[in-house]
Amino acid sequence: MPGIVIVGAQWGDEGKGKVTDLLAETADAVIRFQGGNNAGHTIIRDGEEFKLHLMPSGILYPGKTCVIGNGVVIDPRVLCDELDELRGRGVDVDGLRISANAHLIMPYHLLLDHAGEARLGRLQIGTTRRGIGPCYADKAARLGIRMQDVLDEKILKKKITAALEPKRLSLRPFAKDPELDLHSMTEEYLTYGHRLERYITDTARLAWDLLDEGRNVIFEGAQGTLLDIDHGTYPFVTSSNPVAGAACIGAGVGPRDIDEVWGVSKAYVTRVGAGPFPTELEDELGDRLRARGGEYGTTTGRARRTGWLDLVALRYAARINSLTALAITKLDVLSGLDRIRVCTRYRGAEGAEFDHFPYHQSVLHHAAAEYEEIEGFAEDIGDCRSEEELPTAARDYLARIAEFTGVPIGLVGVGPGREQVVWMGGRRDASPAETPQPASSARS
Ligand code: IMP
Repeated sequence: MPGIVIVGAQWGDEGKGKVTDLLAETADAVIRFQGGNNAGHTIIRDGEEFKLHLMPSGILYPGKTCVIGNGVVIDPRVLCDELDELRGRGVDVDGLRISANAHLIMPYHLLLDHAGEARLGRLQIGTTRRGIGPCYADKAARLGIRMQDVLDEKILKKKITAALEPKRLSLRPFAKDPELDLHSMTEEYLTYGHRLERYITDTARLAWDLLDEGRNVIFEGAQGTLLDIDHGTYPFVTSSNPVAGAACIGAGVGPRDIDEVWGVSKAYVTRVGAGPFPTELEDELGDRLRARGGEYGTTTGRARRTGWLDLVALRYAARINSLTALAITKLDVLSGLDRIRVCTRYRGAEGAEFDHFPYHQSVLHHAAAEYEEIEGFAEDIGDCRSEEELPTAARDYLARIAEFTGVPIGLVGVGPGREQVVWMGGRRDASPAETPQPASSARS
């Protein structure tokens, strides 16, 4: 700390919410920097489950500053519902701040997302259909509606009219949809403006003030590295940049404000939506991981695809995010397996070997994973709270991950509960100990 970025190191759903929640305990502020309500994180606090989509993960701490940064796309309907729900459950949301420059998801973005996927048919991306892509497209086309616009009726109406004009053709099938009525849309969004006004501010400036005062600030990413629109498995990606570099843009700070970058990875891999997945398990074992890990989407409820840990992809994520620490989640899901596999290389369709993540889409689509086998562990690890309490084989597994990626492991999730975590090296701060050595070799 003071500036620590938390990103997903896989295809999203790595458990960033829990890790952010844990690290947020010692932070003064949490700033979300990209994505929208395509994300979903579950936080279990005192046995109570909270499913959040837009709120920064620190919101459950009373009085903590929680910022929705300019890089996030906001569906104000969803945000207002989330606020109501949290308030209804007694959560103090006074610390929330929303960037006046964040773009808004409009009803036509949702329609366009649905229509776009339907048009692609078999080739569809499998989006969350929350209007994310069309909203970011409008932002790039300079036709977006921003949070500040809902505070002024005249500007709002003018901007919606301008945004709708070039979409006439694609929106024609929805011509009679009441959602597209200019008057009611403007009224509805003005209402959101009234409700959210007290939280809307210049959040970049807020971030500078916090950092200049030496406060601890977490920059919270959504989705994951391999869903990055520039560096992921394009076109099977989201429409923003979930990598660490985007924290600066999406929060309004500079690279020198970042001190630590934590990458969150499951002990195996999951993916929702279409696209390449070299270590996918389409068998009973994959079903077992899905069932044990509860691998169903928080946002859409879709069953997630499951597979072995892909170290080639994780090393790529480590480099592209310049990770300083890894958080490995859901290690408990692997217990009971005789052998655990990790992918250390791909083999291309022509027989070529790849020990790095291939940049070419066709190569990755046809890449077969090659594995290294590691001894499994039978013990239930849900009650382990220190590195020493973990079975030797589990420690060896973690050591192999750290060794291959060159990134030390800071914490390990051993169950869904907030307390079910092992801080590696017994440390509970943002600077993990050095890359751990395999427990078995350390003994010998
Ligand atoms: P979109 O972000 O809704 O446009 O969806 C684009 C791709 O990103 C699809 O494959 C989605 O399943 C995936 N995606 C978007 N958000 C998440 C997330 O939070 N976790 C996992 N996958 C996601």
